[in-house]
Amino acid sequence: MNILLVGSGGREHALAWKIAQSPLVKTLVCAPGNPGIAKHAELKPEVKADDADAIAALAREMKADLVVVGPEVALAAGVADRLAAAGIPCFGPSQKAAQLESSKAFSKAFLERQDIPTAGYGVYEKPAEARAALDVFKPPYVIKADGLASGKGVAISPDKRDAEAEIDRMLGGRFGQAGARIVIEEFMDGEEGSLFALCDGQRALLLGGAQDHKRAFDGDMGPNTGGMGAYSPAPVFTPELVEAADTRVVQPTIAAMAAEGAPYRGVLYAGLMATQDGPKVVEFNARFGDPECQVLMMRWNQDIVPYLLACARGDVSGLPAPQFKPQTVICVVMAAKGYPDSPLEGSIIRGADQDFGPHVQVFHAGTRRRPDGLLAAAGGRVLNICAEGDDVAQARERAYLAVRKIDWPGGFCRTDIGWRALDRG
Ligand code: AMP
Ligand code: GLY
Repeated sequence: MNILLVGSGGREHALAWKIAQSPLVKTLVCAPGNPGIAKHAELKPEVKADDADAIAALAREMKADLVVVGPEVALAAGVADRLAAAGIPCFGPSQKAAQLESSKAFSKAFLERQDIPTAGYGVYEKPAEARAALDVFKPPYVIKADGLASGKGVAISPDKRDAEAEIDRMLGGRFGQAGARIVIEEFMDGEEGSLFALCDGQRALLLGGAQDHKRAFDGDMGPNTGGMGAYSPAPVFTPELVEAADTRVVQPTIAAMAAEGAPYRGVLYAGLMATQDGPKVVEFNARFGDPECQVLMMRWNQDIVPYLLACARGDVSGLPAPQFKPQTVICVVMAAKGYPDSPLEGSIIRGADQDFGPHVQVFHAGTRRRPDGLLAAAGGRVLNICAEGDDVAQARERAYLAVRKIDWPGGFCRTDIGWRALDRG
């Protein structure tokens, strides 16, 4: 098979690494890709992930049997729709179905309409109305930009003054068009987890859960980011929680999307809060989590390609349930200093491509290869150091041992990835 993978981050490097292991693959091409992905695929750096026409043209030119879309920007740009029109199977939902992620106002209205558990909310376009709504909600106030903001468009404000400042910042253009509308919602108390399901438009196969660390600094302090680390399995996902999330969130979502004329194909990422009243949806994403994908790929014990293809073709019914290694995998994200607000660009990284032994994989996220062959930082999140172990403690020790072998003065990472799981004992 000829497969085209779309994207350029750590998630796509992990997908490329996993897909390339399949005996079904003849050629793997990645657009635009990154220097780490170059080990597994032919890169097309000139083809951008959100250029639907260019992706479709490349897919036709390489006679792709399957296109696998990594990032949300490609889905929101209609890559899946363009491929559907060209008759090329695509793993990733249509633009309409991807609104579950690309518009918080859309997904909140969908959840409300379908009676799927989530926090109460309101949508606002005018600062005065949003400020007035603070009288209805109780602190802490949860304020979200409606559109895509790379995981950074959410503020949790402890008091009204802070909340008002956030409202003004977001509606004042901090996230551009993505913040032209905002959502204010009820604060949900509980532990969070990410649950993934492979969907073919009608059916969903549970892939299992992971937990990520959204705050930039140790102790879950600092600004929200796209994710500073992850691990799987996550102890928060007890069998009861998974069962409740499947029956109350995942299956009804897939059934309702089909009934509403936007069948969902691809991976559904349900960000869930385990509250006293059971799982509630924090957010949906229309793609794999980054860095949750990295840990799931290392634990997944089967050939991934038949699953991706069956989702894209619209029938997963013949496939066995996905199977995962019992080991724990932890991912530590190394980010450029200054991330998330203003990451330092261009600092040199040494030692990222050495052999770290059988239990460790280092995936590239925002890296670039300089003309002199050196590796340099080219983004906020730059490297993903992933390690497996018999338990969280062993996985974590191996991951941080590998981190210490990388010589990158321009980078930083959290030193406490996995603390929740470790605290549980
Ligand atoms: P989101 O991008 O919607 O996932 O929000 C980013 C993060 O903000 C989530 O991962 C949660 O940690 C937090 N968050 C979002 N919505 C809520 C809520 N209603 N209650 C409590 N925490 C929330
Ligand atoms: N790690 C969170 C996300 O991918 O949105």
